[in-house]
Amino acid sequence: MKKKVWFVTGASKGLGLSLVKRLINEGHRVAATSRSIAELTKEVKADASVFLPLQVDILKESSVAKSIADAVAHFGNIDVIVNNAGYGLVGGLEELSDKEARANFDVNVFGSLNVIRQALPHLRKQRSGHVFNVSSIGGFTGAFPGFGIYCATKFAVNGFSESLSAEVKPFGVNVTIVSPGYFRTSFLTAASLNVPEKEIEEYRNVREAQSAHQHSYNGNQPGDPEKAAAVLIEVAESKEPPLHLFLGQDAYDLAEQQIAGIQKEMSLFKATATATGFSK
Ligand SMILES: NC(=O)c1ccc[n+]([C@@H]2O[C@H](COP(=O)([O-])OP(=O)(O)OC[C@H]3O[C@@H](n4cnc5c(N)ncnc54)[C@H](OP(=O)(O)O)[C@@H]3O)[C@@H](O)[C@H]2O)c1
Repeated sequence: MKKKVWFVTGASKGLGLSLVKRLINEGHRVAATSRSIAELTKEVKADASVFLPLQVDILKESSVAKSIADAVAHFGNIDVIVNNAGYGLVGGLEELSDKEARANFDVNVFGSLNVIRQALPHLRKQRSGHVFNVSSIGGFTGAFPGFGIYCATKFAVNGFSESLSAEVKPFGVNVTIVSPGYFRTSFLTAASLNVPEKEIEEYRNVREAQSAHQHSYNGNQPGDPEKAAAVLIEVAESKEPPLHLFLGQDAYDLAEQQIAGIQKEMSLFKATATATGFSK
């Protein structure tokens, strides 16, 4: 099987790092981005023939453009894009400032859009490729107190990824929305999980969710990032890759609950909600 060239964002830790290491071990070639090339090269030791570490600010389109150009110049082409960089934000909608909310959108949504905009000319020209957009089960169900903005960023990822899939199918490019449940990475550590600058005391349910994630869930997540990395590589080799890829039993359970809940509501209100057309 021909080994591919991958471009992975946010690769100095967590899912991105596990994926990069596994790809290199399996003989693929990888361009990996990080805000800190020092952190990345501390974690990944590999020959330049298979590994290109890139210091990139995904919020700056010029920085992203240079990284894509560097990857193409180094390896000759790019086959698979993984928009993995992202961070969690836990706080009530009333608590989080406009700045805090927009910052989460900038990284989780607009950062990925910068990569897509810069990478697609290459994939479109070569008439092949695969874009993985790492969303979350929180991009499919938002029923968690304290995760409104984070979920909104991931719902946005799901929305544009579905459109992207339809747009680039004619060019032979596949799109997969990766929706993980809880995976044991740095995601819930203080360095990654952001909290509101101004908390409002009355939001007890939000503080409970925040504390549970920071203390009980962190380190006890059921998902193994090594296995997630293996699944992504397997899916990239698949002839008909899925658009929606829920990762982990917890993500599967929550997705099934969400689908069943919506179906139930739809059938209960079908007669009322569909009686909205003009009468002839
Ligand atoms: N772990 C989970 O339970 C879980 C569940 C659902 C979805 N996800 C999603 O999975 C992806 C990977 O997360 P992870 O679990 O691997 O978390 P992680 O260990 O905290 O790693 C996140 C990566 O994203 C990058 N990143 C974080 N904040 C950033 C910022 N402000 N600007 C640019 N890049 C930033 C970092 O890249 P550098 O430091 O190298 O620049 C880092 O390597 C994220 O999109 C996350 O939303 C994770």
